[in-house]
Amino acid sequence: MGQKQYNIAVIPGDGTGPEVIAEGLKVLDAVSGKYGFQLSFHPYDLGGEHYRKTGEALPDEVFESIKTCHAIYLGAIGHPEVPPGVMEKAILLRLRFELDQYVNLRPVKLYPGVEIPLKDKGPEDIDFVVVRENTEGLYVGAGGCLRRGTPHEVAIQESINTRTGVERCIRYAFELCRRRNRAKKLTLCGKTNVLTYAFDLWERTFNEVAQAYPDIETDYVHVDALCMWIIKNPERFDVIVTDNMFGDIITDLAAILQGGMGMAAGANINPEGISMFEPIGGSAPKYAGQNIINPIAAILAAQLMLDTLGETHAAQIIEKAVMKVLTEDLKGVAAGQMGYSTSGVGDLVVEFIEAS
Ligand code: IPM
Ligand code: MN
Repeated sequence: MGQKQYNIAVIPGDGTGPEVIAEGLKVLDAVSGKYGFQLSFHPYDLGGEHYRKTGEALPDEVFESIKTCHAIYLGAIGHPEVPPGVMEKAILLRLRFELDQYVNLRPVKLYPGVEIPLKDKGPEDIDFVVVRENTEGLYVGAGGCLRRGTPHEVAIQESINTRTGVERCIRYAFELCRRRNRAKKLTLCGKTNVLTYAFDLWERTFNEVAQAYPDIETDYVHVDALCMWIIKNPERFDVIVTDNMFGDIITDLAAILQGGMGMAAGANINPEGISMFEPIGGSAPKYAGQNIINPIAAILAAQLMLDTLGETHAAQIIEKAVMKVLTEDLKGVAAGQMGYSTSGVGDLVVEFIEAS
């Protein structure tokens, strides 16, 4: 039997992206040898820095080449000298939309040894997953403006929700909830009391799809209340499904329950196509180039990638290695407070994998 081989498009991007991706690649190299599959990395120089040098964001021929890969491993997109929204739209959102990565999967899991601001809550209380719709809602850029810069300016930004888009995301969440096989509880997070068109569609679809999953308990929580409940009683949640904007907001909040942005990873998933894996913390320009940023979110994004590609043993060993490093080695998880450099943390993860 031939070795499995995967082509991985690697987009280190801006700020601390390249530093954390380098550590993820080290870890991926360590596991691929051990578990008998091959990873070929195809680097793409994209992001704010490249845009400022060349005026190019994501040329079509580059996109076509990325599309030939099995998965994408992305660091961060966003540059302080480029106006907000330009790079995000031209690269990150374009990849998500055009590759139809309709689920943004964000695990929220507190590992032992990680300190968080909540007292009285530990790893046994914090282990849920957010399934964020990733191709619709407020993110599609529907709308426009009139009389810009005048006192009569009008700005309209509409949330687009389609039955198909909502249904496929909800269905994914039910399937995931069943696969996780934990509390088997799926919570719809919305705002049915105000957004009476959009979340009426979400709620009806949710209830209809639920009919096919009698083994899954269902629950509904308004987004504002959910922000309170995930802090007050995070143990109440197993899988949460929500729209693009709410998912964006609640996962930054939820990242604090995991130890912060340096710990939070996400997957942009097209179950039938090319998925993309990223630490969700952004480019953190103030820490760039100092070798002090926490690479664990990027390493966990690599773990999510292998898990999604079906390399579950390799994914498990990465998680085990991360858990060992968190409990036995690191002083903290915030940038500059780990007791190790960025590359030092990567080395520790690799050492554990090689010794196991
Ligand atoms: C995220 C980010 C992006 C988003 C930005 C950079 C466009 O915040 O992945 O959560 O809003 O989706
Ligand atoms: Mn975000």
